[in-house]
Amino acid sequence: MTQDTPILPASSGAATEAPKPTKKVFVKTYGCQMNVYDSERMGDALSNDGYQAVDSVEAADLVLINTCHIREKAAEKVYSQLGRLAQLKQQRKARGENLMVAVAGCVAQAEGDEIIRRAPVVDVVIGPQTYHRLPVALARARNGERVVETEFPSEDKFDRLPAASAGTIRTRGVSAFLTVQEGCDKFCTFCVVPYTRGAEVSRPVERIVGEAERLAAAGVREVTLLGQNVNAWHGQGSDGREWGLGELVRRLAGIEGLDRIRYTTSHPRDMDDALINAHRDLPELMPYLHLPVQSGSDRILKAMNRRHTAADYLRLVERIRSARPDIALSGDFIVGFPGETDEDFEATMRLIEEVEYAAAFSFKYSIRPGTPGADMDGQVDEAVKSERLARLQALISRQTREFGRKCVGRTVELLLDKPGRNTGQLVGRSPWLQPVIVDAKAGEIGDIVTVRIIETGPNSLFAEPVGPQSGNQGARSFDS
Ligand code: 5AD
Ligand code: SF4
Repeated sequence: MTQDTPILPASSGAATEAPKPTKKVFVKTYGCQMNVYDSERMGDALSNDGYQAVDSVEAADLVLINTCHIREKAAEKVYSQLGRLAQLKQQRKARGENLMVAVAGCVAQAEGDEIIRRAPVVDVVIGPQTYHRLPVALARARNGERVVETEFPSEDKFDRLPAASAGTIRTRGVSAFLTVQEGCDKFCTFCVVPYTRGAEVSRPVERIVGEAERLAAAGVREVTLLGQNVNAWHGQGSDGREWGLGELVRRLAGIEGLDRIRYTTSHPRDMDDALINAHRDLPELMPYLHLPVQSGSDRILKAMNRRHTAADYLRLVERIRSARPDIALSGDFIVGFPGETDEDFEATMRLIEEVEYAAAFSFKYSIRPGTPGADMDGQVDEAVKSERLARLQALISRQTREFGRKCVGRTVELLLDKPGRNTGQLVGRSPWLQPVIVDAKAGEIGDIVTVRIIETGPNSLFAEPVGPQSGNQGARSFDS
């Protein structure tokens, strides 16, 4: 996922406690939803530092690139963008102006000094755990220093970053991300996350509840809890007991105005009974679960250090589906992990056939320097990877279309979240995260409306309104 993210309100009036903006920042966010959330929080910090968001590089005094390191291509994109920025910086310099460039995120963490060496255009390199230090780093850079901030500090950045103001939240719409956990201790042999995001850390219950209450008070109706291993979240609950994600979701479901809760990304080994029971009991918890398995071959799962078998995963899926029969599952798959044979790949295809996913993300294995997978024998040929990926994606596409077709005729609740491409239309999300297009008369953005799915399109569904619209209904998912 790659997106341009205007992170600050376009007008200074929206963020009430921030100073009048005198400087302009353009933010480019690569990678996962946590990067989107982090960009917003850095935006809040910059807003307090006199910055206003702009949506073009040309209009900016500062370009902030929030980077992703998960696959090789993602990192290469950053360097080519830095090359283009170097030219722009030269042109500005010729006009006597200063364009500052800051690189944040996982490439910054992994390659801090290398970035400074390879890209003279960069003024500040800042890793994911030090975002609260960004304004100070920029001030140092304005004095001519080239700053690298990539250690893992003892203080918690979330305690130091400013709380999002109602104004900045409001510009982000009716659905918001909320990081509850960060980092990973699992060390899958293909993955850089344990090195770039560090060890697993859970945010305390009261911080999460406070942030969720502020979001709800500002009109947010759907919150997606984020973590690299979100279902490994744990903390001391208000009852003095140790809570897991299931208990946390139960607490958040009680917040007035918060109608929909989602979470991502989960590891199969951390799916405990409390969380599965939350899916059974809580209408606010949406029936959608992103549960990556990566491969359907036990041999490859072992080499990946996933520490479960394909059969364990299938049993887990069965338990989850018996608790919440209408749950939609999505997954992540890697093809061409070192040593993957045709037989291993066929095992992955069989697992997909058996699970029947609503959606999935799939990738060719990409060597990440410093991870155990990089040194393994049996690296797979690119052509073989491409062929396997195409077959796997064709199968998933068929399953996604089939899932959409099964929805036709159902009555569902949509959270309307943006205008459609055509005037007179709105787009909402079904409980299963599908984009659904309806006539704009169905309601207003931010409403939860009841509709009937009437047709499937290539990337979305079409629906018609059903019965009287209250525009304010709860989170029941469907009634077929
Ligand atoms: N190569 C390919 N895909 C990877 N992923 C993580 N590391 C790699 C890699 N080295 C995929 C996994 C993970 C998703 C976020 O990215 O499927 O779940
Ligand atoms: Fe990476 Fe595995 Fe941790 Fe997920 S669980 S972040 S894939 S090491």
